[in-house]
Parts: sequence; C-alpha cells; structure tokens
Amino acid sequence: MRNDVTSMTAVLEGFTSRTPTSDGLAAERRPVPFADSVPVEPQPSAEDLRPVHDLRGTLERRRSSLHYAPLPVRTDVILSLLRDVLRRDRDDWGLDASAGALEGFVFAFRSEGAEPGLYRVTAEETCYLAGLDEIGPAENLGVQREFSTGAGIVALYASLDRADTWAGSHGYRISALRASMATYDLNLRCQALGLVGTLFGGFVPSSVHHLVHSDGATRHSLLATTYARPPES
Ligand SMILES: Cc1cc2nc3c(=O)[nH]c(=O)nc-3n(C[C@H](O)[C@H](O)[C@H](O)COP(=O)(O)O)c2cc1C
Repeated sequence: MRNDVTSMTAVLEGFTSRTPTSDGLAAERRPVPFADSVPVEPQPSAEDLRPVHDLRGTLERRRSSLHYAPLPVRTDVILSLLRDVLRRDRDDWGLDASAGALEGFVFAFRSEGAEPGLYRVTAEETCYLAGLDEIGPAENLGVQREFSTGAGIVALYASLDRADTWAGSHGYRISALRASMATYDLNLRCQALGLVGTLFGGFVPSSVHHLVHSDGATRHSLLATTYARPPES
C-alpha cells in the first residue's frame, strides 16, 4: 500500500544510529589525491557576479529545466560561486575536521572565462584536473542524456568513511543534508544570475571513476546540478 509508511519509518529510524558501521579508522585513510592538478584562481568581475534577480524574483522564477541554450557559461563564475558555497558549508556546519569536507567537481563542457574541462573545488582550493578529451562524450556520463546538454554539471562529493567514523548512519544523513544544502545554494545562486539548471542524482559512478577517483567510501557522489543559459537566450 502506498500509504503504509512502516518500511520507510524503519529506514529513517536506522539513520538515528551514531555507531560506526565500519571500523571507525577513517583518519588513517584518504581519498586518492590528484597528482597532476593545476591550481587556478577564478576571479570573475563584480559585474559577472551581480545577480539579475533578487531573492523574491529568484524564488518566483526558479524551476527545474531540461532545455538549455547551446551557449557557453562563464566557468570562472561557477567556480567562484562553488568555492563560496563550500566555504559556507565549512563555516556553518563546522564539521570538516570531524566528519570530512565536501568536494565539488565541475564538468565545464561549454565554457568561457576559463578552460573547458574538469575542475575540483574545495573551501580551500580550486584545481584544473582534465580537459574535454579526457572527459570524453558528456552523454556517456549519466543515465539521463538531457543533463549532458547543459553548459556544465557540478557534482557534490563527501567522505562517507569520515562521516561514518564520526557518527555512523547519522553521519551519512548529515553528509547527504550538507550536500543537498550546498547543491541548492549553488543552483539558486545560478538562477539569481539568470542561468537555469536542474538537480539530479549525479553521474553513473563507474563512468567518472577514472576522472574523480571516487571509491564510494572516502569520496562518494551525493547530488549534482546542471547549469546553463536558458533556451530563450
Ligand atoms: C535529490 C534529488 C534528485 C533528483 N534527481 C532527478 C533525476 O535524476 N532526474 C530528474 O529528471 N529529476 C530529478 N530531480 C527532480 C528535479 O530536480 C526537480 O526537483 C523536480 O523536477 C521538481 O521540479 P522543480 O524543481 O521545478 O520544482 C531530483 C530532485 C532531487 C531533490
């Protein structure tokens, strides 16, 4: 029965446990580093970062969209917004040292203001990881091909290993919440700039594994959003 919430309640109650489900030794493990990454300092102009809609206008206009203009977006703006989003996550939650930091990966397919390709963004640093050749055809990365027609995709990752050692299933729950808040933070700020985009689950893990070195534990994808110019632009 659709209104029988017994199973869901049991799942939700499971998330209240703070007992690590693994060995509790996450501090001894690290996600794979990016040896050949190139640090970048995105510095978009104040004009490029100025919202074209205020909060009310943004909330009234916002909607998810699978139709995008085949135009580039300023990647330096996206990188700068994402860095600020991750700094807010770090400062608001104060959990980076205990439960691990969020990482963002920007797949900039159509770009101006910075090289197209793959970037890694944290609260501390932004790095260029790979060009479009290495990423390969965007439509091969996810299940829903519409998403690959955006100018780019931002995917949020967390260390479930660290979160589990910190607070078991509750740690996973908080990681999912932090990633959701960060993704909506970015998505709404993009919409305030006149861009569009849709939240979605993220890439097929095996299709981007060689690019972001996600192992499902020390680095695991939680949520993603497209960004693009609206189709009428
Ligand atoms: C966690 C999460 C995952 C989602 N995943 C997908 C997805 O994989 N594919 C999709 O078409 N919509 C997905 N959506 C739904 C859209 O992003 C959007 O929220 C929904 O269509 C409602 O439209 P609105 O945002 O215009 O209100 C997801 C939403 C959330 C919150």
